[in-house]
Amino acid sequence: MGPSSDTGTSLKSVFWGTFVHSTCNEAVQVLEDTAVGVDHEGKVRGLLCIDVYTSFIFFMPGMVDAHIHASQYSFTGTALDLPLLEWLNTYTFPVEAQFEDPEFAKKIYSQVVRRTLRNGTTTACYFATIYTETTLLLAEIADRVGQRALVGKVCMDRNDGASYYKESTEESMRETDKFITQLLGKGYPLVSPIITPRFAPSCTSPLLEFLGKTAKNNDIHVQSHISENRDEVNLVQQLFPDCKSYTDVYLKHGLLSRKTVMAHACYLSDKELEIFHKTGASIAHCPNSNISLCSGMLDVSRVMKHKVKIGLGTDVAGGYAPSMLDAIRRAIDTSKALTILDPKHQTLTFQEVFRLATLGGSQALSLDDQIGNFAVGKNFDALLVNVSVPDGPIDICNEEDPKVRVQSYIWFDALKHLFSSGDDRNIVEVYVAGRRVVPFDNTS
Ligand code: GUN
Ligand code: ZN
Repeated sequence: MGPSSDTGTSLKSVFWGTFVHSTCNEAVQVLEDTAVGVDHEGKVRGLLCIDVYTSFIFFMPGMVDAHIHASQYSFTGTALDLPLLEWLNTYTFPVEAQFEDPEFAKKIYSQVVRRTLRNGTTTACYFATIYTETTLLLAEIADRVGQRALVGKVCMDRNDGASYYKESTEESMRETDKFITQLLGKGYPLVSPIITPRFAPSCTSPLLEFLGKTAKNNDIHVQSHISENRDEVNLVQQLFPDCKSYTDVYLKHGLLSRKTVMAHACYLSDKELEIFHKTGASIAHCPNSNISLCSGMLDVSRVMKHKVKIGLGTDVAGGYAPSMLDAIRRAIDTSKALTILDPKHQTLTFQEVFRLATLGGSQALSLDDQIGNFAVGKNFDALLVNVSVPDGPIDICNEEDPKVRVQSYIWFDALKHLFSSGDDRNIVEVYVAGRRVVPFDNTS
């Protein structure tokens, strides 16, 4: 188990053990007793079956958090008693306004990058704040610590609830250009910019149009929020009376493409989902946030029936947990709650939710040519999981002959244990592009 150096070939490391991942055909594929060769660029070069028995320890692909607000990490846990729009005015805007201060930003951004990485998030799609300089700092920290990330400078030229926290339209345009140029200029191998209109209610039409053109001209990712809460959907109808739907607002302003990811999407009509499918835009399902803020419950199977790409997000701090294991848990819970309300609803299997957290997230971010599973040619972004660490959260009864259990159902048991009660203690090592980034070294 673990890396060994390789001489005489172009491989840099060989990892051996059990590998659990998703493919397009199988939600969970288990490769027991397998060696994976990783080259000097951190990419998977080949898989080979060998004969080594490993018990409750396995590799799985790193998880993709398709929607998280790095700037909201310091007030995680506040979204339990207010609906979305009140919560934004009460907690979010006053704290995000503090991110003009580089010292404060550095402290919180370092914490969130390390915490999420330790919890197995090898790729994060981050909202920062409206401040360019400190958003660049978030990108620098992700690069240094070794997390793959899309980083967004938030754009908002309208904010009736908190007029101290917004930009003029020209400022938002200028700063977005500056942010993209400066971040691309850094040449970070793992970190890229993402255009980030906060959501339709906080942006005017000219700003949205500019952002759509900028995304297209530079072939850059876009992220925002959509149809999270009923009051928000009504507000969008009032603010954009010429648009047929919330989705139509983003469509009309050129913001939907295969590089677009929209968080929540609880109240989309079939027509809106069709637009998502046609444009290739994706959804970040954020179940913890949706329940905490009492926003809604997304029916993931309906989204999948429309062949819309979908991943999972923690949505810190609308969601109170910075862990993708929690997002997996909450996605299963939400799907079961929908089945309780309507027994005809198709409940998601835990295998399908595992796929959402890994391959699904990579597809949602249009990064599935690079990450998401252990296919040859992709980056080795991986977690080494030990389900039964001493003093960990999971006590496994070992009385049966483990070899017998292995042959019957152990890997599915182990995954179920991890998804129901595992935490960062079970994630013993984390790799991004073949580099071990957890445990942290002293320099990160
Ligand atoms: N909609 C607009 N901004 C936000 C935010 O910061 N969090 C959530 N959950 N929804 C939003
Ligand atoms: Zn959000």
